Amino acid sequence: MRGPKGHPILGVIPELRADTLGFLSSVARTYGDFVPLKVFMSTAYLLNHPKHIEHVLQTNYRNYRKTKMMDKFKPILGEGLFISEDELWTRQRKLVQPSFHRQRIAAMAGTMIDVIKTHIATWDRFAASGEEFNLSLDMSYVALEVALRTMFGNSLPREEANAISEALHVANEITAKRIWEMTRISEYLPTRENRAYKEAAGTLDRIVNRIIRDRRASGASQDDLLGVLIDARDSDTDEGMSDKQLRDEVLTLLLSGHETTAVMLGWAFLMLSQRPEILERMRDEADLALAGRDPVGEDIRSLDYTKRVVQEVARLKPPIWWVARTAISDDTICGESIKAGTTVLISQFLVHRNPSVWEDPERFDPDRFEAERVVNRSKFAYLPFGAGPRVCVASAFATMEMQFLLAMMLRRFDVQITSALDPEMSNLITLRPKYDIMAKVTPRRRH
Ligand code: HEM
Repeated sequence: MRGPKGHPILGVIPELRADTLGFLSSVARTYGDFVPLKVFMSTAYLLNHPKHIEHVLQTNYRNYRKTKMMDKFKPILGEGLFISEDELWTRQRKLVQPSFHRQRIAAMAGTMIDVIKTHIATWDRFAASGEEFNLSLDMSYVALEVALRTMFGNSLPREEANAISEALHVANEITAKRIWEMTRISEYLPTRENRAYKEAAGTLDRIVNRIIRDRRASGASQDDLLGVLIDARDSDTDEGMSDKQLRDEVLTLLLSGHETTAVMLGWAFLMLSQRPEILERMRDEADLALAGRDPVGEDIRSLDYTKRVVQEVARLKPPIWWVARTAISDDTICGESIKAGTTVLISQFLVHRNPSVWEDPERFDPDRFEAERVVNRSKFAYLPFGAGPRVCVASAFATMEMQFLLAMMLRRFDVQITSALDPEMSNLITLRPKYDIMAKVTPRRRH
């Protein structure tokens, strides 16, 4: 088994830091599907074959936990579902997952559609003035609005929504900078950045704790996501969540939910702007399905081509482009020995381009996701939402949101991207363009 040589002490850290995606892509091209990577004194493995991935994320998932890097998210996410392990994770997954069952998501569709409808008015203003606007920020705004409204219903005052939005943004940007730092010492220095982070974390705590307290005090059951989480009971013990656990789950859902969705929507507009035939096919579908009226939740079933477009965007630009796990005990993955304490790295960005699975991998082709083509492909070759027991709890929710948003915006507006069409990528946490996507919109011209 061969891999890149790397620096005698640092291993491949310098290459990873300089150009993570480029380096890992060339490693996979040169050395194949199971590649040792020297990192300081230890060796991590890059796994790029669905069989290896299935082993780690599904078959023997109990032997693999999230890496120490996740601790960098702890000040905001606490012991929320994204980070927790063992019994706590099992218990919380059982409590949170039902909130995203099919009927619950259908109930949230109306809120989603309302937020998008309100946002159409913003784009109407952009179209009237002809101004260039920051599409990346705009998508971030609308995705967070969906997250906040589905979580808190209409009970969140505007100033608090803005404060949460600002604080999440600050926390996200600073975490992204911290992610590749080897130690956490610098987090404790009295720098301006650390103060800003602390302040953002304080704001989030204050507002979310206040809302939880008020809800508990009112005693009334509410139909939003928070209400469902408050009412959730463990089927064995009949216990609900503590206030602290609720706070952690609320922030986990808000943070995991909006940035990923927003980044993917940005990529979708960018990629569609260069693929007029695919765009027209989507628009024909939306015109037919919605017939000029506002959508309702059930319309989602008629937006099937739009779903395939979303899936193809997620294949080529997976917002979460890698997951890592550390082995607890010695293991063997497809004949290769893995020692306890070893980290394995799975990159969606690479697996989704593995030429042994995907024909002509760089080509944008939503029809790869037609049902008859999907059945012949391993589930572990396509993992924008992860796989196995720790798969994203809200993949159906996110997919639906993206389907509705794209269908509703694109049937009404022509979108012209005014920034780079093939932007450099930043991959600190999510895979996004290095610089924000800029755009102009005009009312759709029918051909
Ligand atoms: C395009 C949008 C999204 C993408 C690409 C995405 C991707 C992912 C991925 C890859 C994982 C697995 C991480 C791992 O195995 O280490 C994950 C887990 C998770 N996601 Fe998502 N996600 C999206 C939207 C959402 C939304 C909207 C929410 C909440 C409303 C959410 C909440 C979570 C949570 C709580 C977990 C942890 C699940 C667990 O470990 O049990 N995600 N997501």
